[in-house]
Amino acid sequence: MTTYHVRAAIEDDVEAVLALRRHAEEWLKAAGIEQWTRSAYGARVIQGWIGTGSTFVVSTDDGEIIGSLSLDKGDPDFWTPEELKAPALYLYKFIIRSDHRGSGLGDVLLDWSCYRTELAGNLWLRLDCWRDNTGLHKYYLDRGFQHLTTRTHPVRMSGALFERPAELRLAKNHEARLIDHTRGGDEFPSQSADSHPRLPKLS
Ligand SMILES: CC(C)(COP(=O)(O)OP(=O)(O)OC[C@H]1O[C@@H](n2cnc3c(N)ncnc32)[C@H](O)[C@@H]1OP(=O)(O)O)[C@@H](O)C(=O)NCCC(=O)NCCS
Repeated sequence: MTTYHVRAAIEDDVEAVLALRRHAEEWLKAAGIEQWTRSAYGARVIQGWIGTGSTFVVSTDDGEIIGSLSLDKGDPDFWTPEELKAPALYLYKFIIRSDHRGSGLGDVLLDWSCYRTELAGNLWLRLDCWRDNTGLHKYYLDRGFQHLTTRTHPVRMSGALFERPAELRLAKNHEARLIDHTRGGDEFPSQSADSHPRLPKLS
């Protein structure tokens, strides 16, 4: 089992996160997948999020950054003002370097994102993604997300909206071990039930 570490990104991580983004763009292009074609725009967004503490990096034991994700408020280009009132956090720029994919790390990080979502007092983990990318839609549907609707935007290609109840924990087999440095270096999921707050069940 491989051990990974998650922590909040700091300014010094900007280059590593941008390198991950470029790596993902190259992988997508080579796979013939139409997604993340506006490199400069993506880089600006990532730099802004690191500055506000919304981005997290995932590294191996030796400190090499091999993954990243951001949790932030919803994007008003896609969600209506009414929808944005819901108690939700929104997942963005979820990337795992290709040599660490398929290891179970993605599932653990989605569970961890749900945990962070609950910790911030929310009931839903949401995301918007590239609207024509059915492969990516399947990835999220297979992991407990529900497709809500798809919205179009004159310039941007995102707009397929998904959400998953934040209380879900779906990772199996614990193939990837995650040490959570945002919570004092505890292992995630923790063996201690009371360190994982559960909000009231959804009605
Ligand atoms: C999304 C991601 C973090 C998931 O990592 P993971 O949990 O280890 O899962 P895998 O990479 O093994 O992907 C599982 C399946 O989803 C597919 N998939 C992953 N990202 C995809 C994408 N952007 N578009 C289409 N299919 C995608 C994979 O090809 C794989 O398909 P397969 O089972 O037929 O081989 C990782 O695939 C990644 O970094 N993708 C590129 C960046 C990206 O698109 N992020 C999501 C933005 S919303």
